[in-house]
Amino acid sequence: MSTSPEKTIRWGILGTANIASKVGRAIQLARGAELAAVASRDRDRANRWVERHTLGRPTADAAAFLPAGARVTTFGSYHELLQDPNIDAVYIPLPPSLHCEWTCRAAEQGKHVLCEKPVALNLAEARRMAERCAAAGRQLMDGVMWMHHERTCAMRRVLDSEELGRLRRVTSAFTFNGSELGQNNIRWSADLGGGSLGDLGWYCIRATLWALGDLPERVWATARYERGVDINLSAVLWFSGERMASFDCGFDTVFRKWLEIAGDKGSIVSDDFVVPWDIEKARFWVHGDRGKVAEQKVAVCVQEVVMIERMCEIARSGRLEPAWVESLLATRRVCDAISEAARSGRIVDVAL
Ligand SMILES: NC(=O)c1ccc[n+]([C@@H]2O[C@H](COP(=O)([O-])OP(=O)(O)OC[C@H]3O[C@@H](n4cnc5c(N)ncnc54)[C@H](OP(=O)(O)O)[C@@H]3O)[C@@H](O)[C@H]2O)c1
Repeated sequence: MSTSPEKTIRWGILGTANIASKVGRAIQLARGAELAAVASRDRDRANRWVERHTLGRPTADAAAFLPAGARVTTFGSYHELLQDPNIDAVYIPLPPSLHCEWTCRAAEQGKHVLCEKPVALNLAEARRMAERCAAAGRQLMDGVMWMHHERTCAMRRVLDSEELGRLRRVTSAFTFNGSELGQNNIRWSADLGGGSLGDLGWYCIRATLWALGDLPERVWATARYERGVDINLSAVLWFSGERMASFDCGFDTVFRKWLEIAGDKGSIVSDDFVVPWDIEKARFWVHGDRGKVAEQKVAVCVQEVVMIERMCEIARSGRLEPAWVESLLATRRVCDAISEAARSGRIVDVAL
């Protein structure tokens, strides 16, 4: 693979997932990236996906982003796409139960992998994915877009400034009302790796680890299950140094995406940490004591485009960034412990 600074990174997408529209558009908008191929289990579906996303086509929908005449190759199997030597990187928005298999196969074919969250079904699978990508000299990253927003850097600067004092607590929530999701939605399927912990709690865990900088010592959780998947979960995490975190996630509550990071002198509050309610108005608040509040506004940033550009830079330079892999492995480890705690009702140690 060329490492020329000008090289355009050619992307393939495995599966015509709903989220593939957003990320396909991001690939198209990102500097030095090109959407080169889409694979589906059914080639007609891949063709229809391209038609639907191509400007000016009779079947194009409002989310069309491909220029008329764009050459996007379609495949009737994921395997065929991976065999295409022109593809540098793949985006994998498949159900979690398929993440491990297709990430490993992609790495073996020399592709960099952007895999959707929750990464795989458990830590053992996530480790296998990390090992295969490392052995092939390819990057693995999960699709946690908020990590790439300029606001995240701004919140990091506040954390590093010690303005909040000694960190004590992280509280977060990510829920939405899933009553309109079809009965066959992957989120309701135990076999496919559904459930709110992986789908939504993944972001809360990531935010907690990102803010506090290390793994919890132990965790506890409680959940409500339907058809074998958690549709609502609350968790408590204990960290060294008298720090704690808690979060809730679920498919049965109004859309909330809250984050609070509190120290003994102040706190950061975001009411939309996963993605800004208004893309033009990304902001967060720094609260002092006695009601002092400062709103911090952040420049417009399309986080999924930045994510793709980050992956492209890595693919182009060949300089892998292990921090992304460590971060997804830590998230998976905590996710597993919380899942075990919720099912057993016990406090679970997070093995080091
Ligand atoms: N990062 C984010 O912001 C974000 C947002 C939403 C979702 N996600 C994640 O992205 C992934 C996909 O979510 P989604 O809601 O977009 O899923 P979805 O619309 O159900 O798409 C999943 C795709 O996987 C393929 N697939 C292969 N085997 C399948 C099976 N047995 N059952 C169903 N689909 C199968 C299908 O593509 P073909 O039929 O074309 O092969 C399908 O279109 C999940 O891991 C989810 O957590 C991330």
